[in-house]
Formats: sequence, structure tokens, C-alpha cells
Amino acid sequence: MKYLLVFGIILSSCGYISTNILTIDDDNTVIIYAGELRLEINKKPWQLNIYDNNTQQLIITEEDGRSQKLGFGKWVGDYIDLYMGYLFRIGVMEYEYYATDVLSINQTPTDVTLVVDTDDPKHRHIIATFTAAKDRQLSFSFTVDPPLDSNRVNWGFKIQEEDEGFYGFGERFNGVNQRGEKLGCWTEDGSFGWGKFDPHIRFPGGKTSTYVPMPLFISSRKYGFQLDTFYRSEFDSKTVRDVMHIVTETSSFNATLFAGNTVRETFQMMINKNGRSLVPPQWAFGPWNQVSSEIAGENETARARQMLFDQDIPFSVVVDTVHFFPDGEDKQKHEAELLRNQQLLELGVPSTAYYNPMVTTTFNETYGYADKMGYFTKTTDGKSYQYDYLAAHLFHVSQVDFTNPNATAWYTQHFQLALDLQYKGWMYDYGEYTPHNSINSLGQTGLESHNQYPLLYQKACFDYLTQNKTQDDIYAPDYLFYVRSGYLGSQNHTWAHWTGDPSSDWTDSSGLPAQLLASLSIGISGMPFSGSDIGGFEWYTGASADEELWVRWTQLGCFSGYMHEQGGGKGAGRKTHIFDWKNGTILWRKFAKLRTQLIPYIYTQAHIAHYEGLPLMQHHLLNFDDKTALKYPHQYMFGESILVAPVTKPGVNQLDVYIPSGEDWIDVSSKLIYDEVDGRFRISQNNIIPGGKLITMAAPLDTVPILVRAGTILTVSDPKVQTLRHANHPNITSIDKCSVYHIWAWPDSNNNGFGRDWQGNFFNISNTRSSQGKIGITIESAVTSGNYTQVVGQIAINPPGVPGMVQYADGTNLTLLNSWQEVVTWGSSNVYFYSVTTRILWLSIPNGHLFVDVFYS
Ligand SMILES: *[C@@H]1O[C@H](CO)[C@@H](O)[C@H](O)[C@H]1NC(C)=O
Ligand SMILES: *[C@@H]1O[C@H](CO)[C@@H](O)[C@H](O)[C@H]1NC(C)=O
Ligand SMILES: *[C@@H]1O[C@H](CO)[C@@H](O)[C@H](O)[C@H]1NC(C)=O
Ligand SMILES: *[C@@H]1O[C@H](CO)[C@@H](O)[C@H](O)[C@H]1NC(C)=O
Ligand SMILES: *[C@@H]1O[C@H](CO)[C@@H](O)[C@H](O)[C@H]1NC(C)=O
Ligand SMILES: *[C@@H]1O[C@H](CO)[C@@H](O)[C@H](O)[C@H]1NC(C)=O
Ligand SMILES: *[C@@H]1O[C@H](CO)[C@@H](O)[C@H](O)[C@H]1NC(C)=O
Ligand SMILES: *[C@@H]1O[C@H](CO)[C@@H](O)[C@H](O)[C@H]1NC(C)=O
Ligand SMILES: *[C@@H]1O[C@H](CO)[C@@H](O)[C@H](O)[C@H]1NC(C)=O
Ligand SMILES: *[C@@H]1O[C@H](CO)[C@@H](O)[C@H](O)[C@H]1NC(C)=O
Ligand SMILES: *[C@@H]1O[C@H](CO)[C@@H](O)[C@H](O)[C@H]1NC(C)=O
Repeated sequence: MKYLLVFGIILSSCGYISTNILTIDDDNTVIIYAGELRLEINKKPWQLNIYDNNTQQLIITEEDGRSQKLGFGKWVGDYIDLYMGYLFRIGVMEYEYYATDVLSINQTPTDVTLVVDTDDPKHRHIIATFTAAKDRQLSFSFTVDPPLDSNRVNWGFKIQEEDEGFYGFGERFNGVNQRGEKLGCWTEDGSFGWGKFDPHIRFPGGKTSTYVPMPLFISSRKYGFQLDTFYRSEFDSKTVRDVMHIVTETSSFNATLFAGNTVRETFQMMINKNGRSLVPPQWAFGPWNQVSSEIAGENETARARQMLFDQDIPFSVVVDTVHFFPDGEDKQKHEAELLRNQQLLELGVPSTAYYNPMVTTTFNETYGYADKMGYFTKTTDGKSYQYDYLAAHLFHVSQVDFTNPNATAWYTQHFQLALDLQYKGWMYDYGEYTPHNSINSLGQTGLESHNQYPLLYQKACFDYLTQNKTQDDIYAPDYLFYVRSGYLGSQNHTWAHWTGDPSSDWTDSSGLPAQLLASLSIGISGMPFSGSDIGGFEWYTGASADEELWVRWTQLGCFSGYMHEQGGGKGAGRKTHIFDWKNGTILWRKFAKLRTQLIPYIYTQAHIAHYEGLPLMQHHLLNFDDKTALKYPHQYMFGESILVAPVTKPGVNQLDVYIPSGEDWIDVSSKLIYDEVDGRFRISQNNIIPGGKLITMAAPLDTVPILVRAGTILTVSDPKVQTLRHANHPNITSIDKCSVYHIWAWPDSNNNGFGRDWQGNFFNISNTRSSQGKIGITIESAVTSGNYTQVVGQIAINPPGVPGMVQYADGTNLTLLNSWQEVVTWGSSNVYFYSVTTRILWLSIPNGHLFVDVFYS
């Protein structure tokens, strides 16, 4: 309903031409088309190639006689139950057989099936089925027939380019490009601390482990690939050089190949298949604080009031984490929680509780009931499977079996209690523990269901919270539930993800830089809203609290899916907060102000995320056809216009930033002025720099390097905004109470600029229609939605322009004032000021459809 024209174009581009399979069976080649994709199979000996039928370029090729070839086998070995949910094992391949030749071909209107002979002495075949799902999208499946005791199917291809990269695989902390790595897809918990297997890795399963694996990637050669499976899988481009070897740990292999003409097109095809997120509530994008651990149990409302009234620190979410599950920690606190949540809501600050899918055996009646009703995942002899997990305490638990609809209904009933207590959501933790030898209500073992568990767990909450929503409403309900675990398609049933429990340090393995890579990886894999605990969470290394780390992490958080401060340094006696330092507090306020002012821009990006799947934090592969840009994984686009290069190392004062080619850029941060009195940001003109080079940017502790694409107009909220959810309290300025709208504009070298927001408001800058022979710029403002009565613009003026006369299209003059302060405090519109030092034109104009001409003197 609020949705607009501007995005309409995007929507219509989602349609695909339907396509038919066409098989040409000449003497020795089977040819199958998926629209413009051409698959060729050599019948004897078996060999598979995929081409772009337009360009005749080879996309994928098996190479004969090498390990990438289609085959199957049997693994034998032992599982070691070191921790529940992990899959440590020792074993070997007992046999491996490979495809030899095609025996027969059967074609139906929708697919082509080949019976493929193998070198198996037992004469098992591989049934290969190809389906042209869409134009340039081909699904295929390989099944061992009969499977007997086989438990591996492998396939693979030769990597075509020396520097071809593979991006995605869900959330990964070790990198975004996984070329040269061997990756397993098995959801795991990273919270077990250091030193179990590798002294530098938080995950016992090693540096490539993750809470959210996804068996998919996008190649720098523009195609995408995914396995359609919940079984454990492996992608190995490490063992054999120039080969991508892919294994599913069962007797079949289902996959889809996407061959968009661009990376964006491929990404869209994958999103269309895997699902997309709803637009989260706007307030979720404001700063979150865990005030309870900061003040150690004192009155949280009082702390919230102090932040809002005394310190003028904007914030929008209280992270509370009272555990409804696994142990009913909420009991006996209900009255106080309700009172507190009501008091916070009056201030415009919702709070979130905590749930996970487990029930402790000491949560007596609750555990006993669910156990009796058979709601838990079971052991092979039909008892509730119990295991331990270590959080704040050692818990002995069973996990709810979400394949049992009765169990799901029972579990989700427990959400109403939190909602009745006026919680507006919860951390939705864990989901990675399904033991390999457990059994669910469908009779599946953990080997089959482990990776699906987080999806079902998430869907249970999604369905509950969206029960009152109408089908075509693109907005998530007014709740925030944020998840840690996940798998292929999690984005379809969630609207927030965080990267689990980082360590409070600078390490590439588990610290600040790793969290950035995790958010970029999961973003390019399809989950658009991701952020990390500012300051980290675990503290196994014994490092002392480090103000610089907290400040740099705050800056990353400011430009993340969520700006999430929750008290780091667990295990150090007391949690550490940015507010533990005087300067930390000052700098938190600065970036909380920046985040809150950028909300119109950010929330617009959230709508784009819904429609196009594009994450808030976009790896350069999604935006630039520039191989050099891919070599800088610690910088990214935050939405469509802002390039961020957060500082991820200590002791940094300046940073080399690569500005991608094909665009012009403007360094915003080195000349951004922050006014500590009212928290306002003022921009300055800076040179327009052509992309395609490395530049050195200032990065003192109070600065995060950011650039915008030349021609950007950012939509910005007023510095007075304190919170993003309506506050009944008359002295709190929630965003809905603000009638002033701001724009920050940097026209490009042709003096063009464009900006928009999710409400359909838009802004345009172009060369002045200079009938009178005057030169200058025309600013078009069309603010037609929202409660705005005034637009304040900060417009960067390109040299050599100097505004001499500023007037409306009808020729009436705007009034020239003496300072920008006068412009912002004037209280009415039709005024301007030009700052010679910053080269910024300040304008205050009424909303609505209007033109302002700026003639240069
Ligand atoms: C594939 O390409 C060939 C050669 O350009 C062309 O003749 C043929 O029509 C194409 N096939 C399909 C299905 O697009
Ligand atoms: C592939 O799909 C078939 C049919 O849906 C299914 O039985 C099989 O388990 C799938 N294989 C994998 C590895 O998920
Ligand atoms: C995403 O979820 C919606 C609502 O539950 C469902 O209708 C749709 O089929 C899902 N899409 C995918 C690709 O799973
Ligand atoms: C917090 O303290 C204030 C007084 O400082 C009191 O009015 C308020 O009710 C308290 N809130 C809670 C939840 O106890
Ligand atoms: C469960 O029962 C045990 C033993 O009676 C008791 O110590 C414990 O407090 C109970 N726990 C809860 C959550 O009621
Ligand atoms: C769910 O409950 C219904 C009614 O109590 C029962 O008939 C059904 O068998 C239960 N389903 C499962 C999977 O336990
Ligand atoms: C759905 O609406 C009902 C009736 O208004 C309300 O009681 C319930 O809390 C709502 N549920 C959710 C999850 O919003
Ligand atoms: C705090 O900030 C002030 C002013 O920028 C600076 O002089 C001082 O060194 C900082 N203190 C610490 C502990 O970083
Ligand atoms: C709002 O602020 C005014 C002026 O400081 C004060 O008199 C009034 O009591 C405040 N209102 C509330 C509800 O706190
Ligand atoms: C405009 O103001 C009304 C009344 O205060 C409020 O209900 C509404 O949410 C506001 N609209 C926006 C877009 O903030
Ligand atoms: C607008 O300002 C210009 C320059 O100061 C002046 O020449 C012109 O007469 C003014 N126009 C009107 C309509 O006042």
C-alpha cells in the first residue's frame, strides 16, 4: 500500500520467459536447453558441459578422468560425540565408482532422464534427470540406482579461470571468497570457546564452520550453483587445484545451476527460488542496547530515561534476554517485566526477550508434559533425547521436535506469554544441535534433518508472529525476532540475523573482522539483515577491555543490518559496555545519532532488500564488474549509495580504500562535521574522485571511512529524533513526531543527483533549465508522504559554481540568511545560506512538488 512507483520497474523485471526443453540426440551427444543455457552430454565416455548458447562461452565442464567427475561411493567410519550437534568422525571411502556412459534417454515435456552406467562391478546405475526450470536455470538430480549401501554422490567441474572466486555458502567467518577452501554444510554452534581443536578458532569444527551454512555460491564468472538438500554436503576447491568437487552425504544429489547474464541477475534468480524477507519494523533499525547487564540489575527504565533525557543518546530497542525457554527464567518476574516494558514503550523503546528450542529437565512441569506428549526429538529407542549445553550455566535439555505439528503448536503457545508482558520480540537462539543419531516424528535421523531443524524452528515463530498479517502485506509484524542458526532459505522465515557469539578481540578467526565477513557472506547468500554483537560476546582470550575495539565495532554496527550493542566480554566477571568509557559514550552517541539520522535511507534499503533480495551490507561482487574490487573484502556497499570501509585493525589512523571503477566517488567522512551539542551532522563538498584506484582516507578513532557514489541524495531524519517507535511520552521525540525532513546531496560532475525513500518521496538535481542563459542547478523535491512540513537540504556545490540567486520556478526569491544555524532554526521555509568554506548550500523549503533554481553568480 505504501509502496511505490520507483520500485515497480524492479518488480516487473522478475518475470521470466518460460522455456521448453529440447533434446537433440545425435550420435554421441545429448543436448538439452534451458532457454539460453545449453547442456551437452557426451554419451560415451560420459562427460558434461554447460554453455551459454548466446555467447557460446563454456560455463561448466567436467574434465575426463579427474576427481570432479560424476560418481558415488560409500563412506565407513565412526562418529565421535564430542559435543552434541557436531559431526566429528573418522572414516574412509570403502568404494567409489564413476559414470562411464549413457545407456538410455527418456524425454518428457518437462524433463530429460538419462540412465548412466558406471564402473561399479555390482552394475549400479546413476539416474540423471535434467529439468529446465526457467530460462537460464537448470535443475538436475543424480540418484544411485539401486542405492544399496551407497551414502555419497559426488560431482564437480573444472574451474575455468585462475582467479575465479566462489562467494556465498551462507554465513562464513573465514572469508567471502571460498576459492581454495574445503567447506562443509552442517549447522554448528561456535560458542564452545577456544583451543579445543585449533587455538585460534571459536568453532570446534574449524575456521570454515558456521551457524548458518548454505550449500550455494555465486561465481565471479556470474553463474550460481546450489544444492537442494538438507543432508550434509561439501564443496572442495582445495584438495585438487582448479577443481570444484561437490559431495552430498546420501545416495542422491539435487542441484540447480543459475546462469544470469550478470551477477545481479543470477542473485535474483536464486532469491526467487529460495525466498525473501519481509520488511522488518522500522524501529528494529535503530540502535539496540542491553541496559540490564550494563547496570547490573538496577532499574532499566531509569537508565533508559537517563540515556534519552540526560545524555540525548538515541536508542530504539532494549535487549533484555530473560529466558522463557529453556528454563522459564521469566517466572516470578512477570509483574516487574510488564511494568518495565510498559514504561519503556511509553518512551518509545520496545524490549526483546529470549527463547531457544530447548527445555531443561529442571523446568519440571513443562519438561515433564512435553516429554509425556512426545514433543521432543527422540533417541533410537524412543525416549526424549537429552543432551548438555553450556550457556551461562550447564543445561541438561531436550529439544522440541518441530516436525511434529502438535509440538510446534505447544511450543509456540509459549510466545503469547511474552507478548502479553509487552515484549516486542526476542532473541531466537540456538537450533544447531540436532544430534546425528536422533530421530524426529517423521522417522528421519539427525543426518537427514540436522540442517532442516533451524528452518522449521524459525518457521514456527514466523508463522506465529505473522498469524494476523494479510497475505500480500510486505511488512513484518511489529516484532523483532532475531536468529543465530539457519540454512538455505532462512531469510524467507526471518527478518533479522546476528552472527552469534564473537570473541571480543581483533582476530581474523573470531573477532571483529570475522563478523564483517560473516555478514557479507550471508548477505550474498540471500539473508539481507545481519549484524554482530558490538564489542563481541565471548572473552576466552583474557584480553582486557579495549575501548578502541568497542569504538571500531560501534562504527561497524552503525553500518550493519542492525546496530546491536549487547554487552561483551562474557566470562570476564562483568560484561563490558561502550558506556564504560567516557569517550566511548561520546562516540556511541555520535554513531547512534548518525544511524538514527540515516534511517530514511536505511529503511528504503530495507524495502529494496524485500523486493530484490539485496542485503543491506553488499559485497562488491553484487555491485561492480571490477576484479580488483573483489580483493578488498573488508569494504562494502551499505545499501545502494554508501561505500563503507570500517576499521578492523587496532592502531589505525588512516586507511587505504579501493574505490571501484566505472563510478565517481566522494569522500564523505573526512569532511563530515559532527555537532556534539545537538547531534547534527553537516556535510562538506569534497572532490569527486573517479573510481578504479586505491585512495588513502582519514580514519582517526572518531571516524569511519565512508564514501558515496557521486550523484547521491541521501534521505535523512532530524537530529532531534530519539527513538523510532511512537512514544506516548510528550517529551520524547519519536520519529513520527518529526515534521522536518532532511536531504544530503552530492551532485555528480554533470550536476545530476537522485534520491528517494520508501514512502515514494523523491529528490532530483539537474542542470538548470537555463533559458535566460544563466547556469546553475535545479533541485526538485517531491515530498508527498509522511507528516513533513519542511525539507532542509544540504547540497554540495561543485566547483566553480557559487550560488548567487535562489528562486522557485515561478521566479519568487528565497531569502538569503547569514548562517546555516539560521536556516535550521528559522522555523519556516523559503530561506537559504551558502557556506563558502564547506561549499554547501543550505536550503529550507516546504514539502510538496516544487522546483528550486540555483543560479550561479
Ligand atoms: C542456440 O544457438 C544457436 C546458434 O546461435 C541457435 O541457432 C539456436 O536457435 C539457439 N538455441 C536456442 C534454444 O536458443
Ligand atoms: C533429492 O530429491 C529427491 C526427490 O525429492 C529426494 O528423495 C532426495 O532425498 C534428494 N536428495 C538430497 C541429497 O537431498
Ligand atoms: C516463503 O514463505 C512464504 C510464506 O510462508 C511461502 O508462501 C513461500 O512459498 C516461501 N517461498 C519459498 C521460496 O520458500
Ligand atoms: C524504576 O524506577 C522509577 C523511579 O526511579 C519508578 O518510577 C519505576 O516504576 C521503576 N520501574 C520499574 C520497572 O521498577
Ligand atoms: C524442579 O524440581 C526440583 C526438585 O523438586 C527443584 O529443585 C527445582 O527447583 C524445580 N525447578 C523448577 C523450575 O520448578
Ligand atoms: C497430534 O494430536 C492429535 C490429537 O491429539 C493426534 O491425533 C495426532 O496423532 C498427534 N500427532 C502427532 C504427530 O503426534
Ligand atoms: C493476533 O491478534 C489477536 C487478536 O487481536 C491478538 O490477541 C494476538 O496477540 C495477535 N497475535 C500476534 C502474534 O500479533
Ligand atoms: C578521549 O578523547 C579526547 C579528545 O578527543 C582525547 O584527548 C583523549 O586522549 C581520549 N581518551 C582516551 C582514553 O582515548
Ligand atoms: C516534559 O518536560 C517539561 C519541561 O521540562 C516538564 O515540565 C514536564 O514535566 C515533562 N513532562 C513529563 C511527562 O515528564
Ligand atoms: C503522522 O502522524 C500521525 C498522527 O500523529 C501518526 O499516526 C502517523 O503514524 C504519522 N505518519 C508517519 C508516516 O509518521
Ligand atoms: C530576486 O533576486 C534577484 C537578485 O538578488 C533580483 O535581481 C530580483 O529582482 C529578485 N526577484 C524578485 C521577484 O524579487
